[in-house]
Amino acid sequence: MCGIFGCILREGSAVKQITEGLKRLEYRGYDSVGVATIDHGELEIRKDAGKIEDVVARHRILDMKGSIGIGHTRWATHGAPTMVNAHPHADGSRSIALIHNGVIENYMELKEELLEKGHEFKSRTDTEVMPHLIEEELKTGVSLQGAFLRALRRVRGSYAFVVLSTVEPDKIYCARNESPLVIGVSENGVYCASDVPALLPYTNKVNYLRNGEMAVLTLNGYQIIKISDGSTVERGLTDITWSPESAEKLGYTHYMLKEIHEQPSSLRDALRLQERYLNLLTTFLDRGKEVFLLAAGTSYHSCIAGSYLFSRLARLTTVPIISSEFIERYGSSVGIDSIVLAVSQSGETYDTLKAVDYARMRASTVLGITNTVGSTLTRVSRAYLIQQSGPEIGVAATKTFTSQVLVLAQMALKLAKLRGKLSQDELDEFQEKLLRVPEWVEETINKQEERVKELAKTHMDDRFFVFLGRGISSATALEGRLKLMEITYVPSLAYPAGESKHGPISVVEDGVSCIFVCPQGDSHSHILGSIMEMKARGAKIISICEEGDEQVKKLSDEVVEMPREIPEELSPIVYVVPLQLLAYHMAVLKGLDPDKPRNLAKSVTVP
Ligand code: M6R
Repeated sequence: MCGIFGCILREGSAVKQITEGLKRLEYRGYDSVGVATIDHGELEIRKDAGKIEDVVARHRILDMKGSIGIGHTRWATHGAPTMVNAHPHADGSRSIALIHNGVIENYMELKEELLEKGHEFKSRTDTEVMPHLIEEELKTGVSLQGAFLRALRRVRGSYAFVVLSTVEPDKIYCARNESPLVIGVSENGVYCASDVPALLPYTNKVNYLRNGEMAVLTLNGYQIIKISDGSTVERGLTDITWSPESAEKLGYTHYMLKEIHEQPSSLRDALRLQERYLNLLTTFLDRGKEVFLLAAGTSYHSCIAGSYLFSRLARLTTVPIISSEFIERYGSSVGIDSIVLAVSQSGETYDTLKAVDYARMRASTVLGITNTVGSTLTRVSRAYLIQQSGPEIGVAATKTFTSQVLVLAQMALKLAKLRGKLSQDELDEFQEKLLRVPEWVEETINKQEERVKELAKTHMDDRFFVFLGRGISSATALEGRLKLMEITYVPSLAYPAGESKHGPISVVEDGVSCIFVCPQGDSHSHILGSIMEMKARGAKIISICEEGDEQVKKLSDEVVEMPREIPEELSPIVYVVPLQLLAYHMAVLKGLDPDKPRNLAKSVTVP
C-alpha cells in the first residue's frame, strides 16, 4: 500500500505538488519516501527512510528543480525500510527512475536473468528489477514505450508503476495491474496518483486506470494503451464529488468498511508469498520437536485456524498459545528443539515480543508472520513471512485476519508436500481452491452485505450473543465474536460448539441469539446437533451456511448463504466476512465509531 504521485506542470515546481500529494496519501502508511525530477535533461533522485517532513527537510527535496517529477511513500513488502530500498529505483545508466506499489511475484527469476547479463542491484526490493528490465529492452533499439510494454509483459504480480526517464524527459509512463492508479487532468498539468485524495486540490477530473492498462502522460493530456496488445483505449474523464476526507476512505464511511472491502485484493497479495522464505519456514517447522503458534487477539484466532490446517494437511501437531500465557505455561519446558511461530500484524505487540524473547533465551527457533517489514518481530525472527495486507487503520483487525489464515494455509500445504502427506491430486486440488479464495470473498461481499445489514438492523438491540462453530469454524466463531464485542460493546460468548454443553448452554434461554458457523465438511453433521440443542432452549438461530444447505436452513431462523465448494479448511477466510460486516453495521446503527473503539489501541505495545 505505497503512495504514488507524479505530475507534469505548465507552471510551478513539481516537487512542491509531489510532497503535498504524498502528505495527502499518508493514511496509506509508509516507512520511507523518495522523489525524482528531471530538469534540463538531468534526472535527480533523493530518497530516505523516515517521515515525509523529515526526509524532505534532511534531503532538501523542495530545492529540486523541474516541472516534471514522481514521488513515492513506501510501505515495505520486500526489503527493510532503508534508504537503498526506498523508491524511486534507477536502472544501471541512471536514466530511468521508477516507483512501484505492489508485489512482483517473479522478481527472483528476472533478477537472476539480469544479473547474468551484468546488471548490478543496490536494493533488496522486488521493484528494482523493473528499471533494469526496461533498460535491457531499450538496448534492442525499441522506444521507451515499447521497452516499458515489453517489460510489463514479463512481470507477474500486482503493480502500479510510474516511470520517469531522460530518454523522453517530458513524459511520464505508468501502468496498473491490481494496485490502484488514477490519472488527473487540470488546466495546469497532468497527474497520476495511487488515490484520488492526492489529486483533489488540483483537479476533480480523473480517469481510473484499469488492470492491464498503461498510460503515457504529457502536458497535452494522456493516452491509455492495453498492455496485452498495444491497442489504444478510449475512455473519458470522470468528475469526483467526494470531499477530501471521504476520498481518503475511497468514499467508504469508515476505514473498517474499506478494509473489509479490500479483502479480495489483500488476499490476492497474500497469495504472492516469496517462495524461498515459504520454503525456509516450512523446513524449520518440519524439523521442530514441538511447534507453538504464538499470538494475541485476532492473530491468535488465525493461529487456532492454523493449527487445524497444519494438522489436517501436513499431519503436524502445533499448539496455538496466547502470547501473554506462553511463559507461565510453557516457559519451563521450551528449549532448543522448540519452534515458536509468532504471528502479529504489527510485529510490535508487547506480549508477543516478550514471549518471543523468552523463547530465544531458551534457544528455541523463532519464526514470524507479520504485516510490517522492519518491525521488531522481523528483526528477532530467524525467518519470517510478510502477509502483505497493506496498512490496516481500523482498530478492529479484518483484512489482516484473512491474510494471516491464507498465509498459514499456504505454509500447511507446502509442509504437506515436503512431508509427503498428501497425494499429488490432493495437493493440486487444494492449491486450486486456495487461488479461488479472493473470488469467494468478493462474491460474499457483493451478494451478502445487504442481507447482513438487515440482520444487523433486526438484532441491533439484542443484549447478548453466542457464537458457535465446530472444528476449524471455532476459530471463525471466536473471531466473529471478537469483532462484534470490540466495536459494539455487546457482551457475547464464543465456544467450540461441542463444548457448549459443558457449561455455556446454561446462559441460553428464550430469545438469546446464537450465531452458528456451518460450512460443509467433517464438522457439518455435528453442528446440526448443536443447533438443535440451542433451538430446544428457545435460542434464535442465525446460521452462516453454504448456499442451498437445506438441513441448516430448516433449523435456522435466519441464514446468510455462502458460495459453494469452499473446503472446510479454507472456510474461516470466507465465513468470517459476514461476521465482520455484521459487527460493522451494528456498530454504525448504534451510532458508534467502529474505527476507534473505546479503550483499545491498534497496537498494544505496553505490558
Ligand atoms: O499486531 P498484532 O496482530 O500482534 O495485534 C494483536 C491484537 O492486539 C489485535 O489482533 C487486536 O486484538 C485487534 N483489536 C483485534 O481486532
